[in-house]
Amino acid sequence: FSPLVRGKFGRPYHFYPVVSSTNDVAKELARQGAPEGALVVAEEQTGGRGRLGRAWHSPPGGLWFSLVLRPPVSPAATQSLPVLLSLAVTDGVAAFPLPSVEVKWPNDIVYQGKKVGGILVELGAEAEAVHFVVAGIGLNVNITSFPAPLEKTATSLQKIAGEALSRPQLLSAILAAAERYYSCWCREGFAPFREDYERRLCLLGREVEICCGGSVARGTVAGVDAEGRLVLVSPDGTKRRFVGGEVTFKQK
Ligand code: BTN
Repeated sequence: FSPLVRGKFGRPYHFYPVVSSTNDVAKELARQGAPEGALVVAEEQTGGRGRLGRAWHSPPGGLWFSLVLRPPVSPAATQSLPVLLSLAVTDGVAAFPLPSVEVKWPNDIVYQGKKVGGILVELGAEAEAVHFVVAGIGLNVNITSFPAPLEKTATSLQKIAGEALSRPQLLSAILAAAERYYSCWCREGFAPFREDYERRLCLLGREVEICCGGSVARGTVAGVDAEGRLVLVSPDGTKRRFVGGEVTFKQK
């Protein structure tokens, strides 16, 4: 299938029935000089990857794609890209008559606590210069069942909607939102997106634990800052900011 492409996200377009990981294909294309906006889509991934070295279940019926980006920013500034792109994905989904999905910082798309999608941003950088970024996006679209361990934690847009969705239309809507957000982000950073992001954030005001670099912090989520970092208020009232990590709801 192919999306309707109006801007530069989606050109050139590469479709594969099966690949190991669209991120790996896009990285190779980027190394060979693919322009910003180049898109790799696969019907199925046999070696789909998630954050923290996890495998990403990618059967036919999902939306598995990777975009090549060449942002004019430092490697550190790319930390808010997954946060920004998760917002663009929820915007794309909002183009369909569906109950709204939420974002779970830093890179998850969730519905009623179950994961619907995720984003894996990988960098080609050297000596403080970003050569390219590959932004891999995975969305469980027309998937009707999951293997046993995932059934409790994952869901799909088809399950939410009660019917299959048009993936080309969804991809077009996500690409359009992503391109609009990204061009603003290149000029102004994440700050203009803070409020929108917080409105879609399933964690706001919730007591959480965040596991980051081997240590665990607890607190209440106050929101995100202008760099897309998660702001946590500790029980003693101090504010801490996190650039990455694994957030879980605190057990009462
Ligand atoms: C996560 O939630 O941990 C991130 C999941 C990212 C999955 C997408 S699917 C398209 C692209 N190719 C991959 O191998 N991973 C990303």
